[in-house]
Amino acid sequence: MTNDFGALRLLGEIEDTGRDPHRGGYSRHVFDAAEHDLRDWFIERAQRLGLNVIPDRNGNLWAWWGEPGPDAFVTGSHLDSVPGGGAHDGPLGVVSALAAVGRLQQRGFVPNRPFAVTVFAEEEGSRFGIACLGSRLLSGAISVERAGDLKDAGGNRFADVARAAGLPTPGRDAEALSRIGMFVELHVEQGKGLIDMDAPVAVGSSILEHGRWRIDVRGQGNHAGTTEITDRRDPMLAAAEAVLAARRAASRRAGSRATIGRIEPVPGGTNVIASRVSAWLDVRADSERDTRDIIAEVEQAVIDAAAAEGCTASVVEESYSGEVRFDPALRDRIAATLGNVPVLPTGAGHDAGVLAAHVPTAMLFVRNPSGVSHAPEEGADDAAVEAGVDALVRTIEELA
Ligand code: GLV
Ligand code: MN
Ligand code: MN
Repeated sequence: MTNDFGALRLLGEIEDTGRDPHRGGYSRHVFDAAEHDLRDWFIERAQRLGLNVIPDRNGNLWAWWGEPGPDAFVTGSHLDSVPGGGAHDGPLGVVSALAAVGRLQQRGFVPNRPFAVTVFAEEEGSRFGIACLGSRLLSGAISVERAGDLKDAGGNRFADVARAAGLPTPGRDAEALSRIGMFVELHVEQGKGLIDMDAPVAVGSSILEHGRWRIDVRGQGNHAGTTEITDRRDPMLAAAEAVLAARRAASRRAGSRATIGRIEPVPGGTNVIASRVSAWLDVRADSERDTRDIIAEVEQAVIDAAAAEGCTASVVEESYSGEVRFDPALRDRIAATLGNVPVLPTGAGHDAGVLAAHVPTAMLFVRNPSGVSHAPEEGADDAAVEAGVDALVRTIEELA
């Protein structure tokens, strides 16, 4: 049983699912074929542990150990990835939860309270643009009207894709939310904190506030060879200015990060001056003021650059999440249970951050020897993975 449900073995079982031969790493996006296979794999593995898997109305999976009920101890993460992402962001929390249940069952442990392993849908927002869509819908942090209208790159509406996936009525799920007594998400660390501290596991303290903005610059599509430089209205110039302004604005504010990682020229031809360019700006900072100041600076730079080229520009907020401070009592209790492991903040968003507004929530971070995440080089050494499962087992013994 332990071998079958070892976290490393479970990770190995899914190592070929959703590999992206073009980008490298993995592309596993909500309701695509790879993510569907991962769901089936999760359901099968959970059932082999005797768990009863119940999907909710938003595409999140709940694998119950015993009867579903209120005040449950819930642990889990997500199986989707960013485009070309690593193997651990999300799956490590899911396989560690299954491994922990397997190990506890082998020891004869029976939880004293309802207990579930969850898989949240569309955590990365890689398909429909809004991160943590499954937990946001469940908790009512996004309205069903807004979520339903979100479109993927192919123009498919979330409402239609969800219906086709067997989810006719997504939306706030008061019953599912009210069952969660506490949520503990184990996650690969996405920076170098644990490398620097030479420790395999930490407890999370907080998540930087963060958000996503869409920048649209409109100009005049034209021929790359026949259009004189002086005659051009090329929106790419203002988009390029946005990239530089984002770096400048974040560099001036300690602890801030601003990134343009996605840019789409329309129509997107080598010999075509674009008629429109959309760019997505991801900003994270220590304070709302810094975040808003960065956005204002980038917006002004883009509007000025667009005007100088005879273009127009707009900046629209797509999502915004305030700073999250995880429940201090839960954090301290877990840290003490684990022998005073380090306590670390993170700049990455998580479903735990969404749920923290509603229930006591905690995170465990597992060392990533590369310090790299959202890229194929993301990693977790075997010893740290085992230490993570161990930490989760001890956390469950203490709290469930
Ligand atoms: C999710 O991993 C995010 O922080 O964007
Ligand atoms: Mn991620
Ligand atoms: Mn994640």
